[in-house]
Amino acid sequence: MKASSCALCWALAVLQPLAAAVTIAEINGNKYLSPLSGQSVTNVTGLVTAKGPSGFWIRSTTPDDSPLTSESVYVFSSTAGANLTVGDIISLNGRVAEYRSTNTYIYLTEISSPTSVTKISSGNTVKPLVIGVDTLPPPTSLFTSLDGGDIFSYPNAVANLSVVNPVLNPALYGLDFWESLSGELVTIKNPTALVRPNSYGDTWVIGDWPVTGRNAHGGLTMTSKDSNPETIIVGTPLDGTKNPSTTKMGDKTQDITGIVQQAFGYYNILPLTGIKTTTLNTASAPPSSLKSLGNCRGITVGDYNVENLAPTSAHLPKVASQIVNVLKTPDIIFLQEIQDNNGATNDAVVSANLTLSTLAAAVKSISNVTYEFVSVDPVSNQDGGAPGGNIRVAYFYRPEVISLYKPNPGSPTDANEVLAGPLLKFNPGRIAPASEAWSATRKPIAAQWRAKGAKKPFFTVNLHWSSKGGGTSFQGDVRPPINGVIDRRILQANVTGSFIAQILAQDPRAHIISAGDFNEFTFVKPMQTYSSISGLKDLDEVVGLPVEERYTYIFDNNAQELDHMYVSPSLATKTTKYEHLHINTWATDADVVSDHDPSVAYFNVCACP
Ligand SMILES: *[C@@H]1O[C@H](CO)[C@@H](O)[C@H](O)[C@H]1NC(C)=O
Ligand SMILES: *[C@@H]1O[C@H](CO)[C@@H](O)[C@H](O)[C@H]1NC(C)=O
Ligand SMILES: *[C@@H]1O[C@H](CO)[C@@H](O)[C@H](O)[C@H]1NC(C)=O
Ligand SMILES: *[C@@H]1O[C@H](CO)[C@@H](O)[C@H](O)[C@H]1NC(C)=O
Ligand SMILES: *[C@@H]1O[C@H](CO)[C@@H](O)[C@H](O)[C@H]1NC(C)=O
Ligand SMILES: *[C@@H]1O[C@H](CO)[C@@H](O)[C@H](O)[C@H]1NC(C)=O
Repeated sequence: MKASSCALCWALAVLQPLAAAVTIAEINGNKYLSPLSGQSVTNVTGLVTAKGPSGFWIRSTTPDDSPLTSESVYVFSSTAGANLTVGDIISLNGRVAEYRSTNTYIYLTEISSPTSVTKISSGNTVKPLVIGVDTLPPPTSLFTSLDGGDIFSYPNAVANLSVVNPVLNPALYGLDFWESLSGELVTIKNPTALVRPNSYGDTWVIGDWPVTGRNAHGGLTMTSKDSNPETIIVGTPLDGTKNPSTTKMGDKTQDITGIVQQAFGYYNILPLTGIKTTTLNTASAPPSSLKSLGNCRGITVGDYNVENLAPTSAHLPKVASQIVNVLKTPDIIFLQEIQDNNGATNDAVVSANLTLSTLAAAVKSISNVTYEFVSVDPVSNQDGGAPGGNIRVAYFYRPEVISLYKPNPGSPTDANEVLAGPLLKFNPGRIAPASEAWSATRKPIAAQWRAKGAKKPFFTVNLHWSSKGGGTSFQGDVRPPINGVIDRRILQANVTGSFIAQILAQDPRAHIISAGDFNEFTFVKPMQTYSSISGLKDLDEVVGLPVEERYTYIFDNNAQELDHMYVSPSLATKTTKYEHLHINTWATDADVVSDHDPSVAYFNVCACP
């Protein structure tokens, strides 16, 4: 009907200042930012659903029908809720604010400076919404409409949610889903813990809604274009109790009821009380099933980032025990993060022969297996990591099966070359140590070996690319999120890959194994650059490992794979095998030895026709 009558005009004009009542749905709007941000609102009416140390949450008594607009909102005030009880229906005036503590976070819409808090009734029923039952199910792969279909699409940081402020699509985009429930009291039924709690005791979980990427241990693994937005982190309990510190991947907990709240850069559930573990996942990581034949027809190859290992490291005996009992003493091991002989003491020491011989002695003492080792010492403090630690990559090998082919160790500044043969100029030798690709970071070490009985040598490249420091969270404002230091890893992929391509250019049937901590996922640009330039193949693909079981690391919500083996086409055969050993990703904090899982592979490296 057209508002043409003067009486109606008059009525509206008079009522406006008295009752500019807005609903909570109108405050939240259907986007990330409130359409009323910065404005004063009066007579906001809602049911108190929960109280916290710095405010309380109210749910609309006049909800709209839209799944895009949250019906609840946070009222920020440490005093205004003093006399309120959960179940009260109240009205209040206040100011709509958008809050974040850091400019890479998503904003929280809240009502600040509440006044005229008036109790209308008490003792009303407060019923949490069951996620996936009373709400849509959380979307399982896409995060926001600004990610180009993949949070790992490149270039990064082309848009900010707070600038574009897209209309929410909670059926399709995970962050839109959680934003559409901002401030809402919800229940997660049959939760599963996905990872160990972070240093604040917060634990990522899923409920019994549909998920993708579930691995056999009960966690969720990151896969191509799918980093699991259906997960949520359970933050600090509202009643001052604590969440357990010992949860780990695959543990079950009691149902969790709490408030959905953007905090510290993530959508959290702030539980009403500390979560309680009900069933522990007691499955322990099985040891490697791969057995060396003791000659070129079947060698075993390990790969392990042993996390800042020094001769006096408390975890050194545990690493030795894992090498013996879990990796089953592979014929050759690619090691990363070997520190020098006095660890992170910042002095001129760069040699790691004491670190490596101490580890070898610890292995020998429990297994009678002898390892020899090779590495190339870096120039002091030129390779990143803890100052003075001089971390580098190194090889352990069993001399009864494997020996260095025509040894000719390079100095830290000697650039390895592929000579006619193919033959490495330096064995072992660092790849392009003067390249800007490696400034202030670890250089890869190429080596050439002969396995017992083999007609021709095989090549290895052990590497540790730059880590993702300085990135932004999957749940941050910046879209697609910043994948920290990605351009450097693309360059590193190019330099390492070009070196390997020279070997294959001479001998397309050369046996080449490249392994280490790539600090990147196979489906992201640096790894795609690496396989295309080097001509190597991802060993997970070669052996057809299910994508959910491809992980060696935990970060935020996801089991994920930073450590890889890539092999030349001649090793992509039916005899080749590969296993990731989840001794650290499945463990409680107390039992973690390194932040990475090791892997072991099996190859025939006898010369093929
Ligand atoms: C406040 O809003 C409610 C509806 O939510 C209405 O019934 C009430 O009259 C309003 N009060 C004032 C003082 O405007
Ligand atoms: C709570 O109630 C007490 C006692 O009636 C009163 O003195 C106080 O001002 C009230 N506080 C708030 C925030 O309304
Ligand atoms: C995104 O926000 C950050 C932090 O405020 C700013 O530096 C950057 O320029 C913004 N980018 C875009 C594309 O708006
Ligand atoms: C390490 O190397 C230095 C120099 O070659 C040698 O003097 C020393 O004995 C070695 N130490 C160990 C533990 O192998
Ligand atoms: C350890 O190895 C040595 C040499 O390989 C061998 O002589 C000895 O019997 C072994 N000892 C044990 C306990 O296996
Ligand atoms: C690799 O580096 C070379 C030499 O700088 C450059 O020409 C080439 O474009 C790079 N390739 C890729 C895929 O980045």
